[in-house]
Amino acid sequence: MKAFYVTTPIYYVNDAPHIGHAYTTTAGDVLTRWHRQRGEAVWFLTGTDEHGQKVMRTAEANGVEPQVWADKLVDNAWLPVLDTIDARNDDFIRTTQPRHMERVQRFLARLKDEGHIYEGKYEGPYCVGCEEFKLEGDLVEVDGAKCCPVHGRPVETVSEVNWFFRLSAYTDALIAHYEAHPEAVRPQSAYNEVMSFLRQGLQDLSISRSTFDWGIEVPWDPSQVVYVWFDALLNYATAVGLDDPAGSEGAAKFAATWPADVHLVGKDILRFHAVIWPAMLMAGGVALPKCVFAHGWLLVGGEKMSKSKLTGIAPAQIIDHFGSDAFRYYFLRAITFGADGSFSWEDMSARYTAELANGLGNLASRAAAMVGKYSGGVLAAHHDYTTADHVIIDGLATAAARADACMLDLDFAGGIAAVKEFVDAVNLYVTEQEPWKVAKDEAAMPRVETILYVICEALRGIAVLYNAVMPKAMGELWAQLGAEASLGGLDGQDVRDAGTWGQLPAGSVITKGAVLFPRLEDVA
Ligand code: MSP
Repeated sequence: MKAFYVTTPIYYVNDAPHIGHAYTTTAGDVLTRWHRQRGEAVWFLTGTDEHGQKVMRTAEANGVEPQVWADKLVDNAWLPVLDTIDARNDDFIRTTQPRHMERVQRFLARLKDEGHIYEGKYEGPYCVGCEEFKLEGDLVEVDGAKCCPVHGRPVETVSEVNWFFRLSAYTDALIAHYEAHPEAVRPQSAYNEVMSFLRQGLQDLSISRSTFDWGIEVPWDPSQVVYVWFDALLNYATAVGLDDPAGSEGAAKFAATWPADVHLVGKDILRFHAVIWPAMLMAGGVALPKCVFAHGWLLVGGEKMSKSKLTGIAPAQIIDHFGSDAFRYYFLRAITFGADGSFSWEDMSARYTAELANGLGNLASRAAAMVGKYSGGVLAAHHDYTTADHVIIDGLATAAARADACMLDLDFAGGIAAVKEFVDAVNLYVTEQEPWKVAKDEAAMPRVETILYVICEALRGIAVLYNAVMPKAMGELWAQLGAEASLGGLDGQDVRDAGTWGQLPAGSVITKGAVLFPRLEDVA
């Protein structure tokens, strides 16, 4: 079975991660956890982009060799942030690893042999912030200087003899591909942008640089290093064994993984992924990724959050306060995937308190308290169901189906909303059924047992459906429901069966464990 293969961009190591970077990785992690919980084979790749002038200059400014700088940033910032946000990636690629550099060189040499690469003169503007050759028409004037519209800083003029990739040869093939596969660039706004860019016609691309040496050596020309984007884009394929000899472990991995199912990218790097990258693969005769999904930006004061503009917030600043589950929940719930969104402490605190602490957390603790009080901590069997019970039973099935459809479609906000609305429905059920009042009448104990069963079984479904988003809290909830003894581990619960009623057996030992979402005044 081919793995469901998801990638994040590989991040520049010129600086430490901010929440904009963590956002992409979180989305990839939730997506892959969801697919794993559908019993699929999954491969989730992330990593770091370490070559090029941007990283080289940062290292120089800090008085160290680029490799020393990159090692330090990876060890002290980029690997630790994966733990901070609770990401469960399968691999982490660094573009300075031999496994990557060797495969890039081999692929490039093959493209050269097959006539896709030629020598030429490049002259034009370059933005080191973007690591991109710009067109005059792309630039904006700031105080009389021609500047990159993304970074607002002056561009540099490059004039070099370089190696060129025949990108222009792929204009028609790419248009035809995207006309046949409109799902290959998402959302629709990204698809439209790519199509209108392609319809202007493509120019050949300089894929090497000769004026600095921090990069992968062009295999037939040691005076040049590979252009950082050409090097970086290949990571998605080198990480799983691109072009490895038939019969090797790498070839088997490649067959089991490639093509990528989803490349998650920010909208600023869409064209690299939806134009240059597929053209490189077409030239090499390699299958194209199934989908490039461009998400929006996290904004601060209406502008893209960025370290260079000193607006970056480190993930730990938020997670130390709210926890990783709430971080994962908030960013995927509050911002439609594909659109821009703003972060504010007020909005996050409000949602945390209303939806997590009061909504879900309270429901779980009330359930455990009531089972403790009315049936000695052991879940009793239910009796006949009423109409109100059936609303919950049907509600879980609906929520599970809706969440699955949304998650498969990368509509994280919709998937979370489906479960959140079910949590609200269960809370309403508790309020209306008032089991504490029913319990006053000894003869009505069977009804109390049924109500408690409905609540706990609903929580069983919620734990399964929210596990991809909030694995820590849902692991705790699973333990409090005593579900493992009968149903096995939470990660092994298939989300497609989450809506099937009646899985948590009578006799389950329900305990009041740690508070799932502590009140903010208690953690501040
Ligand atoms: N190294 C390249 C990617 C190479 S992939 C073959 C790169 N790195 S980056 O570190 O600058 O950005 C990585 C990702 O973080 C991009 O997808 C970018 O869109 C994303 N983000 C950076 N700032 C962001 C926000 N403020 N909001 C959301 N995502 C942002 O580009």
